[in-house]
Parts: sequence; C-alpha cells; structure tokens
Amino acid sequence: MNVLVLGSGGREHAIAWKLAQSPEVKKVYVYPGNSGMFIDSKLEPLSRKVFTSQVALINEVKSKEIEFSIVGPEQYLVEGVVDSFLSNGLKIIGPTKKAANLEGSKADAKTFMLKNKIPTAGCKVFSSFEKANLYAKQLKFPAVIKADGLAAGKGVFIADSYIAAKPILEDLLLKKKIGNSGSKILIEDFIVGRELSFIVLTNGKFTLPFPCSQDYKRLLSGDNGPNTGGMGAYSPVDFIEENFVSHVIETIIDPVLRGLEAEGNPYFGFLYAGLMIEPNGELKVLEFNCRLGDPEAQVLMMKMKGDFFSLCRGLVNNDVLQAINHEDFWYPDKVTTVVAASKGYPLKPEQGNRILIDDSFFDEKDTKIFFSGVSEKEDSLVTSGGRVLSVTSMAKTMKLARASAYNGLGRISFDGMQFRKDIAL
Ligand code: GLY
Repeated sequence: MNVLVLGSGGREHAIAWKLAQSPEVKKVYVYPGNSGMFIDSKLEPLSRKVFTSQVALINEVKSKEIEFSIVGPEQYLVEGVVDSFLSNGLKIIGPTKKAANLEGSKADAKTFMLKNKIPTAGCKVFSSFEKANLYAKQLKFPAVIKADGLAAGKGVFIADSYIAAKPILEDLLLKKKIGNSGSKILIEDFIVGRELSFIVLTNGKFTLPFPCSQDYKRLLSGDNGPNTGGMGAYSPVDFIEENFVSHVIETIIDPVLRGLEAEGNPYFGFLYAGLMIEPNGELKVLEFNCRLGDPEAQVLMMKMKGDFFSLCRGLVNNDVLQAINHEDFWYPDKVTTVVAASKGYPLKPEQGNRILIDDSFFDEKDTKIFFSGVSEKEDSLVTSGGRVLSVTSMAKTMKLARASAYNGLGRISFDGMQFRKDIAL
C-alpha cells in the first residue's frame, strides 16, 4: 500500500515516519516534503514539481495508487483540499473546508463555542482600529489580541498594558502586517492556569484521544520572547486528574462533533483543543486546531505503539475501530522534543546555513530527528526556514527523555542555531 502525507514540516515528517513503520505500507509519499525527511528510506517525494493547482496535485495522486492521504497543515484544509480529494473519489484524513473554519476563523469559532456551550474566554471582535483602540483604552490588562485568520503561530499577542496593545492593533488593523488574516481581530480575556494540547483523531463515530501533551509557544527559555509555532513539547502531562480525558471528551470534543454535524459539516480528522486548566480546576478552550500540532505530533507519533496505518485505514473505511485497545495503543514511556530554530526566527529567519550532524546520530534507538525548514545544497542539508528540525526522544522517565533529546541536539549544529533550554523541565 502507498499513502501520502501533505505538508513539509516536522509534524509531517513524524506522521510519515510512523506510517512507514507499518509492515503493510510500501511507500509513504510526502508532498512537498523536505530534503531532510527523504533521508528515511521509505519516504519519497510525491513529485519534484510544484503543483500550482489542486487539480494537478489530484492528477498526480491518482497516478500513484495511493490508498489514502493525510493532511498535515491547516492551510490545505481551509483551502478545501479535502473537499477536492473527496469529490474526486480519493480517501483523505482531514476536515472539509467548512468544518476547518473552526481553525480558519477564530471569531467564528468563538460564536460556535458560545452556541454549543463550550467553555472559552470572553472576547470582543473588531475590524475597525478606532473601535478596537477605544475598547483597549478602558480595558483591564493583560489581554490577548488574536488575528482572526491563519497566521502560522504569529497571530497571538499578549499585551500587558494599553501602551503595548496599541502598536499591535495598529500593526494588524492599520498596517495589515499579517495581511487579511489580521484584518479582523479578537481582544480576549487573559486566562491564567496550566495549558495543554488535547488531540483526538475522529471520524465522528469513533474517537481516539491521544495522550495529553504540552508545547512551548514562546521563543526563549523561561517563557520569554515572542510567540512561535512551538519550540518543544512533551507527553504525557502529569498535572491532570484521572477522569480528565473522559471529561474533555464529554464537555468539549463531543459537543464540537455534534454541533458541526447539526450544521451539516460533520467532522473527520484530527481535532486539537488548546486548553487551559484554571487554578480552580475549570477548563477553558483557548483555540481549536483542525490538525495535529507541531511539535506535538513529533512527540505523539513516537509515543504511539499501535499501527498508525491500520488505524487510519480503519477510519477512512469505517472499519472495526471499536476493537482498538486505547490503553495498549501507546507506549507507557515519556517523550520530549526540542526544536532547533534559525537565527532571526520568528520574524526573519536566516537561511542557507549548512547543518552538521554527527554521523552516529542516525543509529540511535528512541531518538529521532524530524526535519522542518531544511533544503539541500551541494549535497548538504542547509537551513531554509524558521523551525529547522526537532530532536525527539523516548525513555522510561521524562528526565531521561529530556537528557537524550538535549544530548542529540548537542551533536547538531548550524550557524545561528537557537533552542530553548527548559523543555520538559
Ligand atoms: N504547537 C501548536 C500548534 O501546532 O498550533
């Protein structure tokens, strides 16, 4: 069997790597992929061409005998790639364009949450700078300012004061610094507590909760610096109560699935709830994503013991999924991943720096490099994006997993390499 993963980051490398472990999988195609991931022998580029339309992509998929595809990044989803694949008779894991609007518009997601009684932070939505600015003047800070549309991790700001908030509002609403994504914004209550990523894979009837994980959104150790796509992650988290997972399914995931179904947009794919557990134990949804997280995927794919390909095939075919033993589907071990990013990330990442990796690295058991922003130049891997790679390790304890991940990073270097020192501490 052949399968296809759409995307080019560390998340897609991890998904493809895990699919490739199934004895039933012959080839895992990735599009567009990156040069680092194709070092793995079972992973292959779908094409070296860049497809300028979904039609061209679909024609290529049809020519390759692909059993099903999995979508990695949100951009494909909100552009309706799932709708196009389905209308061409191709199986694919990911929500339709309408269902993916849960991530595509934060304002619409808020309306949906209110309608379906899903707990979330209060907010106001603005398209006019004047109105947003007037509102901000009388606000109690800190507050969260969010771009409505997709912004690749660069659309969320925490403002400590009006002085800090005003230039953010100007950048988004007047200067259009992130384009259309920020032409509508949300000013949201700042919630304190412990944040975690709650991810499920569902076809609406069967839902598999993944182990809870935590990612680190700020660039610098100690939760300093600007927000990023994520600088590291670990799983499992040790601060949740015994019935937490069933409680989240009951109060958040099921209402989302029922709500979307009632609107005529049944959900199929990964659903990621960014949650905050407040000091009083109450839960709030910070955001929904319609895909796996990056770098959460790197951790979760390594933590998965079961056959991911069989799970996905069962889902797309509506087949015998109830037989999956949820407990046994995951290693009991701890996993952590640390992201190495380019100098200048997230604003203006430096590119073209040669990546040096100690030869012994690829032989390690339970430690793996997942590549993101890399390309090839004169037979060497060079940096070509903000987040360059992540080193992921699994071990009996979090302390050991962490030590192996950092040990692995110590054997990789490129000019300007930066990473957080406090992942899973
Ligand atoms: N790590 C956060 C995200 O993928 O959105």
